[in-house]
Amino acid sequence: MDGFNKQPPWLWEPNTTCWWQVPFIYMLGLAIGARFIVEIGVDQGYGAWHLAHLAKSNRGLYLGVDIVPVQKKIFESCGVEFARYFDSCRLPVKFLNEDSKTLTGLPIERVDLAFVDGEHTKEAVLHEVNVLLYPKAQVNGTTYICLHDIVDFPGVKEAWEIFKEDDRFQALEFYPNSGLGVLRVK
Ligand SMILES: C[S@@+](CC[C@H](N)C(=O)[O-])C[C@H]1O[C@@H](n2cnc3c(N)ncnc32)[C@H](O)[C@@H]1O
Repeated sequence: MDGFNKQPPWLWEPNTTCWWQVPFIYMLGLAIGARFIVEIGVDQGYGAWHLAHLAKSNRGLYLGVDIVPVQKKIFESCGVEFARYFDSCRLPVKFLNEDSKTLTGLPIERVDLAFVDGEHTKEAVLHEVNVLLYPKAQVNGTTYICLHDIVDFPGVKEAWEIFKEDDRFQALEFYPNSGLGVLRVK
């Protein structure tokens, strides 16, 4: 895949907090042909790198939401060469610099796949999933919402317990390394 394996060294860092979760989500996205992909909580771009390549290969769009300006953050942590390289990959990315709790909608036509890894409070996670469920077009049976840290963060864990009982979803959970919850929207 064009440019995908030419990552900066820190992206191979095994201590990245979501080191296996992101490649798992990437593979899920390939399997379902996800085109419209949203990440809430971008930070230094481990998820963004993979999921933006996924969007490119599926002719879609990656939307990253973060309360801090992430392009500046990626630039500062990876250096100017990586920032230039990121741009040269011509990835279909949009970044939204906003507090997820104030989101009332998303500038994307639908959501096929989402990675929720932002504020980690119950209030924020419940709101984020709600927003992901109501993009401009109706979601269908192929929408997946993945939540990081369903084991380690009490707020995320509480939200996850609510989602598991919600008839709108089929839920699948993984426990290792802080956990990952996957919701399939029925
Ligand atoms: C654990 S990091 C995300 C890691 C990222 N998913 C990755 O793959 O490397 C959490 C991010 O969530 C952002 N964040 C925290 N609270 C937020 C909020 N209320 N709205 C949007 N972003 C938030 C932080 O600025 C931080 O960049």
